Amino acid sequence: MTSRRFIQGLTLISVTALLILTESIAQDIAGKKIVTRETEHKFRSKHFLGSGNCTTCHNYLEDRAGNDVSIIDAWRATMMANASRDPLWQAKVASEIHRTPKIQGAIEKKCSRCHMPMAHVESGWDKTPIKIFGPEGFLNPKHPKFDMAMEGVSCTLCHQIEPNDPKKPIRHSGNFVIGKNEGVNRKIYGPFKDPFPWPMKHMLKISPTYSPHMNTSEHCASCHDLETHAFDKDGKDLKTVFPEQSTYSEWKASLYSKKATLKSCQDCHMQTAKGTVVISNLPRGRRLTPRSPFYKHSFIGGNTYMLDIFNKNKEELGIRSEAFESSIKRTRGLLKQAVTMTVVEGSLAGKIALKVHLKNNSGHKFPTGYPSRRAWLYLRIQDENEKAVFESGAINEKGQMNAACDSKAKKIEPHHDVITKPTQVQIYEACMKDAQDNWTFTLMRAVGYHKENRILPEGFDRENAPKKLAIRGQAKTDKNFEAGQDTINYKIELAPGTYTLLLELRYQTVSYSFAQDLFKDSGKVAKVKAFERLHKKAGIVFERLQVLEKTLEVK
Ligand code: HEC
Ligand code: HEC
Ligand code: HEC
Ligand code: HEC
Ligand code: HEC
Repeated sequence: MTSRRFIQGLTLISVTALLILTESIAQDIAGKKIVTRETEHKFRSKHFLGSGNCTTCHNYLEDRAGNDVSIIDAWRATMMANASRDPLWQAKVASEIHRTPKIQGAIEKKCSRCHMPMAHVESGWDKTPIKIFGPEGFLNPKHPKFDMAMEGVSCTLCHQIEPNDPKKPIRHSGNFVIGKNEGVNRKIYGPFKDPFPWPMKHMLKISPTYSPHMNTSEHCASCHDLETHAFDKDGKDLKTVFPEQSTYSEWKASLYSKKATLKSCQDCHMQTAKGTVVISNLPRGRRLTPRSPFYKHSFIGGNTYMLDIFNKNKEELGIRSEAFESSIKRTRGLLKQAVTMTVVEGSLAGKIALKVHLKNNSGHKFPTGYPSRRAWLYLRIQDENEKAVFESGAINEKGQMNAACDSKAKKIEPHHDVITKPTQVQIYEACMKDAQDNWTFTLMRAVGYHKENRILPEGFDRENAPKKLAIRGQAKTDKNFEAGQDTINYKIELAPGTYTLLLELRYQTVSYSFAQDLFKDSGKVAKVKAFERLHKKAGIVFERLQVLEKTLEVK
């Protein structure tokens, strides 16, 4: 008994000694790597810890091939780490409040749940107001939970999400459950069995704990499936539920959720390191078991646009990370894999006929997520003098497309199966409608979708899929708009001659019409004005996912 105590005591002393070395080791390793200064990331609260508390042990890591797989550096250059600093998010929340002021409290509660989850959860427990704006709001630098709010979706939030109860439906719309434990009883869940617990227990009073749920899509579902309620402008609840984002449900309805073809969110969005990784720099003396698979915290998606805004306006937005360029590069890499485009062409007498086939390789609809995203086909046919004789889907430097949806007419562009005129553009998007059946961009007004033709994931069953994932508009009757794919036919009359054809699949994070609708509030809402300025100087207007050039002869 006593001797066991003694040995435990010795272990503790040696761990303490190791930990005293911690800072200098970190500096040492930091010397040759990206250095991020730790000040604002170091908060410690009853339930959460800032990411700066994890740096010493979980940053400056390398895989077997010598590639840097530092967890904190990777995470800091992601959308989730900056979910509360995101100037578009702040502008949209402010605009929603401006448009339905009677429900300001409810909007602030709703919108902070996933974008400022730690501040939201902790305030719920200590019964302090959950507010975003104003003197009592989390965005006020003097607010005691400012640092917590500014860490966005952070380490100790994700790693304390409890497993789903298998007898209950999957949690969604921000209904994740965080363990209420305090002190060393806080469980930091991880994917590996038997973690060596002492350094975390001793230094941070938290306990690394194995749990297989970290490896499942259900872990991400609580924030990546989102329903809202519609309100009229007087703040009256219209008692309708609107599926604002359904990424998890789309995945669930795809091939990727089936046992034989399983691919989780993590498999595509975290990506694994080469070989094994020793996941902590400490303890140094005791060799930790190298672990695999090691998932990188790069959380790449499709948002090069906002990552570029973060990168170019760090000081103004209070962001510290040097890794945005590599984050943008990785995001672009994922976007390029999202869809395969193939073309079968035929030239007939006086006509060009193209069959463009698009195959969705992503794990959900393409594009998925927030309903400001759109993807479309750009086709340019030029004659021997490089003069365009046909152009569909052109876009100017402001991001405005040469189509009715982006003109004063503001008409939703229908889904097409056959395109014959330059005014027709194939756009894949989800367009919201309000209770009066008008096209709307106000989240709090949305009751459903007018148009929903985002390309279905593989394995999607059109007949039996949940109603909230339903196809809306002309795509419903398009026979070749099927699981995992769509085919578009271009039939264009042309005089005999030789032509060059340029075909591109393009992607835009914030559609022109969505941005214009938001900027209507610029004169009255400071956050919107601030975002409009950043938007106007943004470097990335759209992405080219697929590009194809061909020469064609018309007889
Ligand atoms: C259930 C969690 C959840 C809640 C609640 C939530 N969001 Fe989000 N929000 C997300 C996720 C996840 C994304 C990222 C989706 C994507 O990238 O397509 C997102 C993205 C956004 C974006 C796009 C940001 C960008 O940089 O492109 C805006 C704007 C936004 N949310 C506004 C809001 C507003 C306004 C509210 C409150 C009415 C809100 N969110 C509430 C989860 C949530
Ligand atoms: C969006 C949620 C999320 C956030 C934020 C997050 N993690 Fe993770 N982390 C995960 C998931 C999921 C896994 C397991 C992946 C798997 O095995 O499928 C993981 C794995 C890990 C591991 C095991 C090694 C590995 O990478 O596989 C460590 C250590 C870790 N995270 C630390 C951190 C630290 C430190 C931070 C903050 C800088 C952080 N995590 C932020 C979700 C998150
Ligand atoms: C003093 C060093 C140290 C600090 C600081 C530290 N960790 Fe750890 N962490 C470890 C060690 C050691 C392990 C176990 C490694 C093993 O057994 O392979 C570990 C394991 C983990 C795991 C994986 C658990 C599992 O079972 O898969 C997660 C997740 C994790 N840490 C998150 C964090 C987070 C989040 C922070 C910051 C709040 C943090 N750690 C701070 C040393 C540290
Ligand atoms: C606490 C809520 C929460 C959890 C849990 C969560 N996310 Fe997110 N995620 C968000 C929010 C909020 C955003 C959007 C931030 C923004 O755009 O401002 C987001 C954005 C993303 C993006 C978009 C990046 C881009 O460039 O477009 C990806 C990818 C992502 N999350 C993957 C995951 C994965 C994988 C998991 C599970 C391991 C997960 N998320 C768990 C809230 C969450
Ligand atoms: C087979 C790979 C694959 C799987 C599985 C997968 N995704 Fe994706 N995801 C992609 C690709 C490719 C993109 C980029 C194209 C797009 O926006 O659809 C993407 C984009 C996203 C975006 C960003 C959209 C934006 O607006 O910037 C989010 C958020 C996201 N995925 C979340 C998830 C979540 C949550 C899961 C699990 C329920 C998941 N993904 C499963 C491949 C995958």
